[in-house]
Amino acid sequence: MNYQNMNQEKRGMARFPPGFLWGTATAAYQVEGAFDEDARGPSIWDTFAHTPGRIEDGNTGDVACDHYHRFEQDVELMAELGFGAYRFSVSWPRIYPDGDGEVNEAGLAFYDRLVDALVAKGIVPALTIYHWDLPQPLQDRGGWLSRDTVDAFVQYATTLAARLADRVPIWITHNEPWVSSWLGHASGAFPPGLSDWGAGATAAHHILLSHGRAARTLREQGAKQVGLAVNLSSVRPASDSAADVEAASRWDEYENRWFVGPAYEGAYPAALLARLEERGEAPPIKPGDMEEIKAPLDFLGVNYYMTHTIAADPEDGGPLELREVPSEGATTDCEWSITPAGLSEMLIDLNQRYAPGAIYITENGATFDDPEPVDGTVEDPARVQFLREHFAAALEAIEAGVPLRGYFVWTLLDNFEWIWGFKRCFGVVQVDRKTQARTPKRSARFLGEVARANALPAEGGMKS
Ligand code: FCB
Repeated sequence: MNYQNMNQEKRGMARFPPGFLWGTATAAYQVEGAFDEDARGPSIWDTFAHTPGRIEDGNTGDVACDHYHRFEQDVELMAELGFGAYRFSVSWPRIYPDGDGEVNEAGLAFYDRLVDALVAKGIVPALTIYHWDLPQPLQDRGGWLSRDTVDAFVQYATTLAARLADRVPIWITHNEPWVSSWLGHASGAFPPGLSDWGAGATAAHHILLSHGRAARTLREQGAKQVGLAVNLSSVRPASDSAADVEAASRWDEYENRWFVGPAYEGAYPAALLARLEERGEAPPIKPGDMEEIKAPLDFLGVNYYMTHTIAADPEDGGPLELREVPSEGATTDCEWSITPAGLSEMLIDLNQRYAPGAIYITENGATFDDPEPVDGTVEDPARVQFLREHFAAALEAIEAGVPLRGYFVWTLLDNFEWIWGFKRCFGVVQVDRKTQARTPKRSARFLGEVARANALPAEGGMKS
């Protein structure tokens, strides 16, 4: 379906609702660098990235985009490009180098300066409290497998809100708990690198509990909008067979419903929970936990990248008994399927199921191999097309009644892309790894134009 033509035929101009926020998203470990400055402590990502063999190109986030020292220039660039909002995460080990205990004033002061710079330029700050960089000292005491980490998280969240809620309107407790829980503890691909489904379910439960408790505290501290950011996908069975259809439904529970279900309904999805119980891998739910997890939220943050096509596989050895097969159609350079229609479908389905009241796209973007800059611009037509189609899909969802309030493109800068190192470039701004020079890509100018007009320009009609 060609959303672009459809929208323009229908209304002449593809406009977003008034007040819609447009911006980019980043995460502390991926951009900040300055890994040992101003008393920052180590996180599980420092440990992981420094373990030989863990990162594909052998790099670490020690320097990353040097955003810690260059944030003023980066904020200036966002303003010039016309971006109206910026989602960033706070590095927990900058604030509490030991995970809890003494607050590090220098860490807080950095985020004070960043927020002030954004506000001075009229850019709305959206703050993520946890984007995967658990302080290593907390990991040494059990990490998310320990209920004590919930208390440490709530203390950390409270400290941030007390300092920044006067200027930061949008607060996200956790980014993609699916990654911190399942990838970190069940598949072992991400830190802390455990391969144990029971550990995955335990981490998920403690992360959710920390979300629910912090959500309440944040509001008490004056945070205006509080939410959670989850990665959601559209899911398709590989065939019409009952086995594949059921397997696709298990993936849906595992990725799309394991976190949203407890946060909005106070319950884990039943079929996957039963499977984990049978295997002795159920989450350690104590009386009252599910009520605490179901804290009132102002919005749900959705990170959308792709469609997953799922086939049954009784041999996979885990509770899911499935495997992913390639989806139809084109992919980005990391082989994620390009499926804008999945975005509108997923949002409509999400809204019907959980009625979150307000939704932000907290991440969406694509990695492509970009050319060298020419005359101060990097031409990235595939990314422009990707964004155009996804923005159009977002409009379709809005027209279908989805309360979408903003859109944060992943990401501002080509950065340290976790286990890929610097091999993958999702940025709308290119970063020269030797000089740290920033060069906007065509996609940055496109995003700026959409943001300024709060509308999707006709194809070929871009001014920039
Ligand atoms: C998401 C992460 C983000 C980035 C993108 C590509 O899962 O939240 O940090 O790595 O994927």
